[in-house]
Amino acid sequence: MSTVRSNTDLEEVARALVAPGKGILAADESSGTIKKRFDSIGVESTETNRRDYREMLFTTEGAGDYISGVILYDETIRQKASDGTPLVEILQRQGIIPGIKVDTGAKPLAKSPGEMVTEGLDGLRERLVEYRGLGAKFAKWRAVINIDGDRIPTQYCLDVNAHALARYAALCQEEGIVPIVEPEVMMEGNHTIERCYQVTCDSLHATFDELYAQRVEFEGMLLKPNMVLPGKDRGKASPDEVADATIRCFKTAVPAAVPGIVFLSGGQSDEEATANLDAMNKRGPLPWQLSFSYGRALQAPSLKAWKGDKANVDAGQRAFLHRARLNGAARSGSYSPDMESGAA
Ligand code: 13P
Repeated sequence: MSTVRSNTDLEEVARALVAPGKGILAADESSGTIKKRFDSIGVESTETNRRDYREMLFTTEGAGDYISGVILYDETIRQKASDGTPLVEILQRQGIIPGIKVDTGAKPLAKSPGEMVTEGLDGLRERLVEYRGLGAKFAKWRAVINIDGDRIPTQYCLDVNAHALARYAALCQEEGIVPIVEPEVMMEGNHTIERCYQVTCDSLHATFDELYAQRVEFEGMLLKPNMVLPGKDRGKASPDEVADATIRCFKTAVPAAVPGIVFLSGGQSDEEATANLDAMNKRGPLPWQLSFSYGRALQAPSLKAWKGDKANVDAGQRAFLHRARLNGAARSGSYSPDMESGAA
């Protein structure tokens, strides 16, 4: 009998990203998305403003206590802080692992109106070599799965996105980079939580079928899914309902060999995203670490406090550290809403 071992370097990085009490900051907004975020606080999206904002987040003292890794955008992984230090180096000094978004965005899916497919495979092998040279140890690729009645998503959409996710993941592992595999079932719509459950299970089954077929090592990857929620226009489910439905779905679809599941926040408020993660972790023990890889839910209060003004950097950093600490508590199910008022 041969002993089949996974690539221990990949496994080590994957496990470090879901270390107890810590999670990932998604700061990989594309130019279009960061412009929307800046518009909301009346700040122009210039290269310097984007740098200043991300520098504020990354230099937050103590961030490394709660943040294991940061997902960067192509522009950011090449940028230097105002004192000339590469932003990647600032993260490394904090003990934070740099990662990189490598997809080039979701585009309309041919012959399936209302559905999307994510692009970015062309030249990916070469880009991964370059990103590894720039310090990236993990990567992200996001697939977008819309829900519209019983018609959407089609199996065609689930399959092409799963195929692309698996091709990306295999290329990453070949280059020694941990792939974060993100099939996001969107919250937009008025569907029930049961419909989200069904679509999320179908999407995860399609994704893991392809990952297996394309020889991706489950031990050296992370899954970044949505939580199972009712559509945005439907109203809210309690953290207990979300936790029950989400864990039930993952138990049917996510192999136990996957070290961690790192949720996206997807448009939940920052407090909801923390409370829902906490409710899931109160239900342990589970086969995988359940953690966060939040964009909006980690950044929203900090962005509001900053407002593009240097004088507000301290306030922005306090707001960021506070959210990071509360999500760190949710990793062990030890968050309580009372902690919200104690802004650091
Ligand atoms: P949100 O947490 O804002 O959904 O962003 C996470 C992310 O990286 C989406 O790809």
